[in-house]
Amino acid sequence: MSDILIACLFPVMLLYLGLRLSMFDKGTLHLIWVDFLSLFNYSRTPNVVSHNGPFSIQASSAAYSRYRSLSMNELSRMRASYTSIGRAHKRIGYEIGYPKKLDKLAELIQANAKVTDGIVAVMRRNYSKELSISSTPSWPAVRSTATETSIDSHCLSRTREALKHFVRDWSDAGISERSVIFEPILCALSTISAPSSRSQKRVLVPGSGLSRLAFEISQLGYDVTACELSAYMNSAFRFLLDPDTTSIVNQHQVHPYAHWWSHSRNTANLFRGIRFPDIIPRLAEDEIVGLHLKEGDFLALDAPDALTGSARDTPKGYDFIATLFFIDTSVNILYTLEQIHKLLKPGGTWVNLGPLLWCSSAQAQLELTLEEVFDAMEAVGFSVAGGRDGCDSDEPDCMKRRTIPCEYTHDNKAMMRWIYEAEFWVARKV
Ligand SMILES: C[S@@+](CC[C@H](N)C(=O)[O-])C[C@H]1O[C@@H](n2cnc3c(N)ncnc32)[C@H](O)[C@@H]1O
Repeated sequence: MSDILIACLFPVMLLYLGLRLSMFDKGTLHLIWVDFLSLFNYSRTPNVVSHNGPFSIQASSAAYSRYRSLSMNELSRMRASYTSIGRAHKRIGYEIGYPKKLDKLAELIQANAKVTDGIVAVMRRNYSKELSISSTPSWPAVRSTATETSIDSHCLSRTREALKHFVRDWSDAGISERSVIFEPILCALSTISAPSSRSQKRVLVPGSGLSRLAFEISQLGYDVTACELSAYMNSAFRFLLDPDTTSIVNQHQVHPYAHWWSHSRNTANLFRGIRFPDIIPRLAEDEIVGLHLKEGDFLALDAPDALTGSARDTPKGYDFIATLFFIDTSVNILYTLEQIHKLLKPGGTWVNLGPLLWCSSAQAQLELTLEEVFDAMEAVGFSVAGGRDGCDSDEPDCMKRRTIPCEYTHDNKAMMRWIYEAEFWVARKV
């Protein structure tokens, strides 16, 4: 009897459910469906989320692999836009060389794709295990045209950002930008320790990007660990580290500005090629003083043991932590401050340079002013060298808090500039 009742009620329940769901708009239904499918994903492959985040090895390998096709799609849309103008305007366009310019962009996409393909090849060698877990990133299981377009544009902008980082970090063309932001940090680290003692000191560079700052600090004689979460950055850096892909100076060329046609004085500037690397970086073997790379979340790091050869009672932790354009990428700046504090040895030093460009749309849980950052630093247990106002005369000038106008992966031939009034400080763990 009860079976018959259930059999009768089942279609009624389905009808009721259908009616309730029809009250939601399409977007809500999509989210419900994605959540529902993700329940199954979680239960089948527990690690799938960390393996497939937007900065994961899988996502970035897929993005670099698609650089060529996505850029060509974008070019097709540009061609279609141009084709839609009237005949008289097309004639003027032809006379000023616009169609040729579109053809040239197609060539430059192929040229840039030599680098992105090279990165993919390096990724296949370095991350074969991770890439065999899933060859496609698990972005929303149900993909509408809108989500696909937004994923595609994120993929493209992240790969293009990496191309610009090659210029900023590893080309002669990046020297002027690098010197403004590296010099204060390198000067502070040169002042704090005598050259003879540096091989006994550990430096951590969290959010190291393409690691040029970490490399330069290692050139001062320190043992340096670069830590970077994004596989976009790590794989681009590995492209330079791998002797099979990079063995001579200026071996590669990118056209990093070819994709954004605004603020350009002429086509030669827009399409210019920039050669890299100006110097060939290599990692040190484990246990050997030099440059090391930790691929992952700096918030998950533990304080390291003292270097071999240090005094027996040397406490765990880094002697110095250097952050550049980093702290404002924090979801929760307080975790970042606490982690920097935790990873430093007692009396250790944190050197920072950067703006406060918090992740918008409430992605950052706290969006502090500079004064609030200093208050939070004091609460966590830091004291700012030279005092918060940078006026304490006992400190050498290069250690004092100050504002440094600077740029970030800027096209120095463009008709616009974005200047950060970045803040530099040295803080001690108390
Ligand atoms: C604005 S970029 C600056 C990169 C580099 N410091 C530079 O100046 O070129 C910030 C970097 O921090 C990385 N990052 C953010 N949070 C991180 C974390 N918790 N652990 C490691 N890296 C992180 C990002 O992936 C990004 O590459």
